[in-house]
Amino acid sequence: MAPQRKLAAGNWKMNGLSGQLSEIDALVGSHADAGCEILICPPATLIAPMADRADGRIAVGGQDCHAEAKGAHTGDLSAAMLKDAGATYVITGHSERRADHGESDAVVRAKTEAAWEAGLAAIVCIGETLDQREADETIAVIDAQLGGSIPDGATGENLVIAYEPVWAIGTGKVPTIDQIAEVHDHIRKTLADRFGEGTAQDVRLLYGGSVKPDNAKEIFAVDNVDGALVGGASLKAADFGGIIEALDG
Ligand code: 13P
Repeated sequence: MAPQRKLAAGNWKMNGLSGQLSEIDALVGSHADAGCEILICPPATLIAPMADRADGRIAVGGQDCHAEAKGAHTGDLSAAMLKDAGATYVITGHSERRADHGESDAVVRAKTEAAWEAGLAAIVCIGETLDQREADETIAVIDAQLGGSIPDGATGENLVIAYEPVWAIGTGKVPTIDQIAEVHDHIRKTLADRFGEGTAQDVRLLYGGSVKPDNAKEIFAVDNVDGALVGGASLKAADFGGIIEALDG
C-alpha cells in the first residue's frame, strides 16, 4: 500500500447550521490542494450539503453511527445512511459519546464493524480521564480501549485511531510532548503485535485535544503522530487552515 497521507480531521460536534457551510467554501478555496487529507465531520444534518459543496476536494464524515444496519431505532443513523449522504468516514467511540451515552468498548467495536460493513473508514477514539492519568493508569486504559474497541480485520484504509485525552478536550490543556509520544508509540506497538508491522505503520494515529494553530507544529513533530482530530479550532476555516499548514510542514 502507498504511504497514507497525513490527516487533518475536524469534529464539529453539535455545532453548525447551514449558514456555516460558507466555512467549507472558504476551506476548499484556500486548501483544496493541501498535501494532507482534510476531513470535516459536521452534524449529520450537514453531511449531504457539505459533501455536495466539497465535491470530493475535502472528505466529509459522520460523528457516530448505530451498530446495526437498519431497524427500529428511532433517532439513530446507520453507517449506510451516512455513506448515502456523502460520508466516507465516521468517528466511533468519541469520549463524549462514551460519557453521554454510556458507550462501552464492545459497543464501539460493534459500531466500528458496522462502519466497515457499510464501506466507511472508522476513526476510533481512545483516551484516559484526568483521574486515570493521575493514578498512572493511562497505558492500561489505552490497552483496554484498543483491545476492546477495535475489531479484527483492521487495515490502513478502514481504521484511523485518535488519541484524545479526555482532560485535554476543550480545556486548552495539552499533554507534554513526551506524554503524547509515549502513548502514540505504545499504540503503534500494540497494533503491530495484533495486526502485523505493515498494518500498524499504515494506520494513521491522530492526536486530539485542544489542538490550535499555535501548538499544532510542535505536536505534529512528535513521532507517530500522523495528524489531528480537532474540535473547536475546526469550526473556522482560518483556524483549521493554520493547522492544515502546520501538518503540511
Ligand atoms: P477540542 O479540539 O475542542 O479540544 O476537541 C477535541 C475533540 O474532542 C475532537 O474530537
